[in-house]
Amino acid sequence: MTEDAFKLTSPDGATTLDLPVRKGTLEPNVIDIGRLYRDAGVFTYDPGFVATGSCASDITFIDGEKGVLMYRGYPVEQLAAQSNFIEVAYLLLYGDLPSKIELEEFDTSITRHTMLNEGMLSFFKGFRYDAHPMAMLSAVVGSMSAYYHDTMDINNPDVRNVFAHRILAKLPTIAAAALKLNMGQPFVYPRNDLNYCENLLHMFFAVPAEPYEISPIAAEALDLLFILHADHEQNCSTSTVRMAGSSGANPYSAIAAGISALWGPAHGGANEAVLRMLKEIGDKKNIAKYVEKAKDKSDPFRLMGFGHRVYKNFDPRATIIREMCHKVLKQLGRTDSPLFELALELEQVALKDDYFIEKNLYPNVDFYSGIIYRALGIPTSLFTVMFAIGRTVGWVAHWQEMITDPSGRISRPRQLYTGPAQRDYVEVSKRG
Ligand code: CMC
Repeated sequence: MTEDAFKLTSPDGATTLDLPVRKGTLEPNVIDIGRLYRDAGVFTYDPGFVATGSCASDITFIDGEKGVLMYRGYPVEQLAAQSNFIEVAYLLLYGDLPSKIELEEFDTSITRHTMLNEGMLSFFKGFRYDAHPMAMLSAVVGSMSAYYHDTMDINNPDVRNVFAHRILAKLPTIAAAALKLNMGQPFVYPRNDLNYCENLLHMFFAVPAEPYEISPIAAEALDLLFILHADHEQNCSTSTVRMAGSSGANPYSAIAAGISALWGPAHGGANEAVLRMLKEIGDKKNIAKYVEKAKDKSDPFRLMGFGHRVYKNFDPRATIIREMCHKVLKQLGRTDSPLFELALELEQVALKDDYFIEKNLYPNVDFYSGIIYRALGIPTSLFTVMFAIGRTVGWVAHWQEMITDPSGRISRPRQLYTGPAQRDYVEVSKRG
């Protein structure tokens, strides 16, 4: 990070500050305002962190205007076409693509950590049969801090490494346990002869009564979706993980906090909301009515799966997922999927609408992912869990980066206070 200076002059012209401009590998640069309060007595004000960089990071780069997304410098399009999720996970965690041996060792380690402590499985007996899988996921991941607390020395790189492998490996197993509870079926143990996505499909859909055949296109589609969801720099859930972790909290708790943040419909919960919205629209003839609803400021309805804080031209992940959606539906013989037809039509109508054009609202990563999940037989309530499985590696990579940053401090934003100025306490008997 080299430095330049940004001059800031107070309204009365009496004070001028030279604020350092930090330059990243790629633009935009940032103004370092760390000394602003000390030198000028003011804070910055930026609700929603629209123009605020919360940290420096080597992990993921996004250019929202150009629709660029890169993990550790590699364009996501190349990774989606040529890599696989486990390799991408290694890249995100360790910074470079692995050698053949490193990849094999990493893959083996992830495979060997997939089983849950049997005691953890008993948590699922406490949930109601219809508990939302995201609620179960955040609760059970949070409970991992109870299993791995005394041994969790966050200053020890080996301990951090085991944490990374363990959480990445166990997320699909926890998700499968939640799904099986919802379905009223027995839990299915992981199989070490299968790869990450095959094993996930096995745990989701196999039953003890008959053999289960894993569909290669289903495994391929999941692998792609996990690559595309793996990281997205300082989004809401990742920032939550960093913030929770910045206090030195147990990292399993920090990941559970990230899962909770992801659940909201403005973030990862959008994939579930998209499918519910498409079902509600129901028919192409209703599209115009729903587009009008989305534009009506007095109506809380929004077109789910549209818009993004950072992407203002297109979401590169949506482009890739749309193609995979075609492929999956074709291979599964579901080209006549009415929901897919409806989604395509809705996309076309919205893309031609002045409101959506003016506000740069385009389909995002969540618009088509749900249609793929649905085609694979994954229930709607599990869609955001699928997002969480992919995003966990990003959360862990950011947690690692945060915890090993020598300049790292507890996250502690300030505020613009708008409450009452000082007033004196009045005894209850004397209040009017
Ligand atoms: N439908 C209708 N209007 C919208 C939509 C939408 N989906 N998204 C944004 N707008 C309007 C919004 O009303 C506002 O209008 P105005 O300037 O007149 O007040 C303008 O566009 C800017 O929206 P914003 O809410 O200020 O933008 P934001 O950057 O704070 O929010 C967003 C981004 C993704 C939360 C938002 O676009 C949204 O709610 N989209 C629907 C939910 C969704 O698909 N979320 C998934 C995001 S991608 C995956 C992920 O991050 O997890």
